[in-house]
Amino acid sequence: ALRARLDEITEAFTVDTAKLKAIVDHFVSELTKGLTKEGGNIPMIPTWVADYPTGKETGTYMALDMGGTNLRVAEITLNGARGFDVVQSKYKMDESLKTGNAQQLFSFIAECIGNFMEFYHPDSKDNVSVGFTFSFPCTQPTLNSGILQRWTKGFDITGVEGENVVTLLQNAIDERKINVTVAALINDTTGTVVASNYVDPAMEMGCIYGTGCNAAYYEKVSKIPKLEGKLPAGVTPDDYMIINCEYGAFDNEHVCLPRTKYDIRLDDESPRPKQQTFEKMVSGYTMGELLRFILQELYEEGVVFQGQNVDKLYKEFIVNAEFNAKIELDPWENLMDTEVLFKEELGIETTMDERSFIRRVAELLGTRAARVSMCGVAAMAKKRNITKCHAGADGSVFNKYPHFKTRSAQALAEIFDWEGSPDDYPLKVLPAEDGSGAGAAIIAALSKRRAEQLK
Ligand code: BG6
Ligand code: GLC
Repeated sequence: ALRARLDEITEAFTVDTAKLKAIVDHFVSELTKGLTKEGGNIPMIPTWVADYPTGKETGTYMALDMGGTNLRVAEITLNGARGFDVVQSKYKMDESLKTGNAQQLFSFIAECIGNFMEFYHPDSKDNVSVGFTFSFPCTQPTLNSGILQRWTKGFDITGVEGENVVTLLQNAIDERKINVTVAALINDTTGTVVASNYVDPAMEMGCIYGTGCNAAYYEKVSKIPKLEGKLPAGVTPDDYMIINCEYGAFDNEHVCLPRTKYDIRLDDESPRPKQQTFEKMVSGYTMGELLRFILQELYEEGVVFQGQNVDKLYKEFIVNAEFNAKIELDPWENLMDTEVLFKEELGIETTMDERSFIRRVAELLGTRAARVSMCGVAAMAKKRNITKCHAGADGSVFNKYPHFKTRSAQALAEIFDWEGSPDDYPLKVLPAEDGSGAGAAIIAALSKRRAEQLK
């Protein structure tokens, strides 16, 4: 029975080259639609960052980076020779914060800033500007404001949707009498593309593969009709502006992605059903849940773990991407790490047959995530008509999930019918050098430069 179920699951989770290509084609038209005045399903948010770094920018800047897993407070020194140094403190975003209220969230962030200032600059009297990297979809009327459209990645904090997060943070900072001003709001993908381009001028895109999945890229201003010609001072239609795609929302109308019944259940049970369809199929946030759903189903069918107490298998998010990663790294011979993992984390004894099944499913999920996530990169490249460029990537899945890089490179090569080694394909997704924090610093330097040019 296990064998037969594995065949079915393999079929459901395998995405072949033809399907990848079909997804890319629809993706290109959705990116284009998102840039129109009427808009589409993908937000395609103009970021007002309309400069490429020269690599010569210098200075020391402070940055805050609220990703899916951690909050970082950092001080970045740009060395003017395509490099930078980072001094940072990292704070884990507690699960309870992710479903609390606005006051708790912003006072936590302000407290982290206060601690950082106290530690590194106890005697500072000057007001310090900080770039805030906030990894959620915000409409940005200007570079230093952002209205949260909606929470993603399982965050569900009351009192923030529809509000300007810069004001909320500034108020919390002022309440604590910390001498810091929030000067720019940026998405993690925007930070990643800028920081990557500072280091390597071939970088045109910034991608995050972590708790969430999203990307930003440089688009020609004349191809962004939703700007309706209202260009920032000094920017011409021939310049390029970074667009935060927020393409985790791709295919929210469910016309193209090959969703399985497990994906549908995951969506139904999420805090925001019918949103972030693409992200839910490819991100770290959901990989473990899908494995858990499959195992639950097989237990209920009487196929695995019979006669055992499986209560823990019914606990949300107990299985996460890190758990799947450990299974994928386990040597096939006896899958001993998997045996220990199931015993220790879930209180379940496994047979070798069950472990082989679990391992195959983890591979299927990891492979699907890597392959489908490349459709976004391919679509941005096609949209821009670029056949050769680099995309900077960051996030826990890209950096830590086993085989993600090789599987995704393979998928990209297939999409473009590349017959050589995937490593030689001229469109490459490469690790970003500490994306977002440095990106916030470089954006601060760029906006200073533009302001000076306009004087
Ligand atoms: C970090 C970036 O490395 O990755 C953040 O600095 C980004 O800006 C994050 O949000 C995404 O990864 P994860 O795994 O935390 O969601
Ligand atoms: C989610 C957020 C997006 C962010 C991405 C990666 O998709 O909506 O803003 O860039 O996660 O962190």
